[in-house]
Amino acid sequence: MQYVWLDADPGHDDVTAILLAVYLDNIKLLGISTVHGNSSAYWTGVNAARALYAFNAPDDIKVYPGAVKPLTREARYAPNIHGEDGLGGVVGLPPPDSPEAQARFAIREDGTAISAPEGMVTAIKETWKNGAGHKVSVVSSGPLTNIALFILTHPELLEAVEHFVFMGGGVGLGNVTPAAEFNIVCDPEAAQVVLNCPVKTVMVPLNVTHTAVVTESVHKRLCAAMVAQEAGKNDVTVPPTGLRSMLSSLITFFAHTYKEVYGFDDGPPLHDALTVAYVSNPNLFKSKRYRVDVELHGRHTTGETVADIWDYQRCDDTWGATGKNCLVLESLEVERFFDVLLDCIDCCDQV
Ligand code: BDR
Ligand code: CA
Repeated sequence: MQYVWLDADPGHDDVTAILLAVYLDNIKLLGISTVHGNSSAYWTGVNAARALYAFNAPDDIKVYPGAVKPLTREARYAPNIHGEDGLGGVVGLPPPDSPEAQARFAIREDGTAISAPEGMVTAIKETWKNGAGHKVSVVSSGPLTNIALFILTHPELLEAVEHFVFMGGGVGLGNVTPAAEFNIVCDPEAAQVVLNCPVKTVMVPLNVTHTAVVTESVHKRLCAAMVAQEAGKNDVTVPPTGLRSMLSSLITFFAHTYKEVYGFDDGPPLHDALTVAYVSNPNLFKSKRYRVDVELHGRHTTGETVADIWDYQRCDDTWGATGKNCLVLESLEVERFFDVLLDCIDCCDQV
């Protein structure tokens, strides 16, 4: 079993990461902290709560709202990709202030909210049990502000972290500047803190996430019920269920913005889902270990993840400040990944 803490900024693809984290049978999801990113921290928190409700997640999985802005910079959002509220075009979610959504936030007995740092620290301590329990995989699908704050304020808990797995960056590839990817450019200082901490980091870069494209045929397969599966046929003619309508609207909006903004004709890439898929099944990926740093002061390149693929710096084999600090995913078995996602959708649809 993999014990997972998820930090997210939902976000269309973040929602698919949440679905996997709830339904993969070798993952125990401890909680979700949320962060500024695709939209404001208000919306990303509420969207995580709405997604948990829509997925019928167990009641003990709660949302813990986190950082409203990066460590040192101003917040920036992605309305051109995700809509103003972070989940543009998605149907079938409860309204933000509905009891269904609000019940998904972690609340103390006195009615006050429990926020990201406290929720995360408590869950990690309770799981680790001073070494008698389990390590936790800390997974991030948004800007790394909450994770950096955790590292800076709780160094004593780093021994309880299996690895920090984050969607972000690219090797020679950006998506908001020629050099930088959105999650990293939102808070480059936070990303540099994470990469330099003495724990294994795993980067899920654009180079790989751009292969997990929801083509029209994958869309149909994921979102239509398959009644004739047992007979060995893929009959996708049955009207979709509420869950599948919701996912279909999510994919349709995301496909539209990816086509408009980036000219992706085949469909949108499900970047964030790959983080959770990696924790559950690393064999879906090929990877290599490099020294990776974040450019913090570039004229054209701020937020670039600079991977030393030729090991020019002759780094040692430690994680952190002097070593090859990052396992960089390099390829994905795309069909197997979508099989995994489809299994989770089926599972969720049966709850
Ligand atoms: C990342 O940025 C966001 O728009 C997505 O949710 C993903 O985490 C891709 O660059
Ligand atoms: Ca995200």
